[in-house]
Amino acid sequence: MSINNNVSQEQLKIQADFSQKVKAILSAKYYNRAPKAYIHTYGCQGNVSDSERIMGLLKEMGYEFTDSLESADFVLYNTCAVREHAEDRVFGNVGNLKKYKEENRDMIIALCGCMMQQEHIREKIHKSYPYVDLVFGTHANYRLPELIYKKLSGGRRVVCAPEENGEIAENIPVYRDKSVKAWLPVMYGCDNFCTYCIVPYVRGRERSREPEDIINEAKEIISQGYKEITLLGQNVNSYGKNNKSDMNFASLLKEINKLDGEFKIRFMTSHPKDCTKELIDAVAQCDKVAKHIHLPFQSGNDRVLKAMNRHYDREKYLELINYAKSKIPDVSLTSDVIVGFPGETYEEFKDTLSLIKEVGFTSLFTFIFSPRKGTKAAEMPDPVPAEEKSRWFKELCTVQEEIAASRTALMKGKTYGVLVEGFSKNKEGYLSGRTDGNIIIEFPFSENPESIIGTFQNVTVTQSLNWILRGKLS
Ligand code: SAM
Ligand code: SF4
Ligand code: F3S
Repeated sequence: MSINNNVSQEQLKIQADFSQKVKAILSAKYYNRAPKAYIHTYGCQGNVSDSERIMGLLKEMGYEFTDSLESADFVLYNTCAVREHAEDRVFGNVGNLKKYKEENRDMIIALCGCMMQQEHIREKIHKSYPYVDLVFGTHANYRLPELIYKKLSGGRRVVCAPEENGEIAENIPVYRDKSVKAWLPVMYGCDNFCTYCIVPYVRGRERSREPEDIINEAKEIISQGYKEITLLGQNVNSYGKNNKSDMNFASLLKEINKLDGEFKIRFMTSHPKDCTKELIDAVAQCDKVAKHIHLPFQSGNDRVLKAMNRHYDREKYLELINYAKSKIPDVSLTSDVIVGFPGETYEEFKDTLSLIKEVGFTSLFTFIFSPRKGTKAAEMPDPVPAEEKSRWFKELCTVQEEIAASRTALMKGKTYGVLVEGFSKNKEGYLSGRTDGNIIIEFPFSENPESIIGTFQNVTVTQSLNWILRGKLS
């Protein structure tokens, strides 16, 4: 039985009406120009995807977008709560907005995203940042027209952070940037409650979009000329559990793989507890699915994994990895790791080092444990000093750098199919793309580079640096 509900058509109509009212107010206020919105997104691709929908709503209300705070009439920070560092950056940048607001009293300052779903953060904003006009949590994004209308017509600060769960807002306009890659959410929320993680508290219960909504959006993305679709969810392997349709994630991948057009499919994130051989087989079989699996292991030690509430052990993880290696030649594996979980000893940390050596990851996202208010791990005794954790962290990074360097060295002289994404940010006169395994590769161009941006090209590796490759078109 389905427990998921989409936001009702009636509610969406109410929001569409608010959108038109806002548009009318804005066109009277800025009668000789379009109002400009500045959007900055922190955190994961889920947040980036939410911002694309928020921007779709803003566009309908008559906003255009700007990269300069000086010229902005509306400023929005879409925030992330996953680590303390992420929150500190937001507070620093919100503090910095005060001077812009003093220059432009009409500027609307809005904060949304995962931080705003937490009461203690909303209280801090309320007390310390009185010039913030609009605060809304992750479950209220689709109500942005109503919230802006309230602000424009009432003038006072508007706060909206309902705890409601299980709702998905379909048919929200999406404003994607003009790059070649598109994000496509397949599910929202998370039910796993890993003891260190704030996501289940700020994103609500796990809920999946119905397959036809996803497939229709995929078709639209392809028809708009995007060449890569990344399917998003905190735990894509449990996709569809409460849907009307009985389609699981492996079947969804196969359905999207069947769509016409030249494009690549990626997905993230897989959780080892729910990752199945069926999914790995689907990756192996589907020609459009990149041969890359991001499978976060977090720790190589069984006691720590249990304390993290991850529901798999080292053996089960390695079994999945070995199955993937046996079915997908050249598979590229990446992962997330946490160093210094409360109570972790150096001996236990060494199990993480041995696991990364055993697997041979292409790259790793490495994090030092950050206590998050409201999570179980934040209450656990944490005797290891921060400097000690930093030493372990550096040791981990050094080992992984060596692994990555030896892996990329083996790629020298080989030719790879590459999706060309744009101009290199590191080297003038070079274009940049990614291999199927998601490794950045840069290569020189001679003339007409625009004509090959957004196309698949064969590139031969001439030089391997630690994380990226250099090559030439072949
Ligand atoms: N859903 C994904 C999964 O289960 O692997 C991960 C999503 S989380 C947004 C991204 C990564 O942030 C996690 O894999 C974990 O390594 C890291 N992370 C989450 N909470 C953390 C914390 N409190 N301290 C340090 N790293 C954390
Ligand atoms: Fe956080 Fe765990 Fe959910 Fe990933 S699976 S979002 S790490 S609680
Ligand atoms: Fe993503 Fe950060 Fe929220 S990682 S889900 S934006 S807490």
